[in-house]
Amino acid sequence: MNMECPHAGKSLLKGNCTEQNEIICPFHSFKYDMTSGNCTNNNEGFRLKTFETKIEHNQFYIKID
Ligand code: FES
Repeated sequence: MNMECPHAGKSLLKGNCTEQNEIICPFHSFKYDMTSGNCTNNNEGFRLKTFETKIEHNQFYIKID
């Protein structure tokens, strides 16, 4: 699964994470809340797709719609 930044479609795989649960795009430094997907430092409405997850019996599950 490749996660692309909704700003210009660049990969977020090498983005850094903050202590505020955000990922920072390595290309233009837009920040996205990893829970809601909302962009937190730009008000143009960019948003990441998010997925429901859970850990059960040491297994990690992602719900894909
Ligand atoms: S491509 Fe991510 S902020 Fe521009």
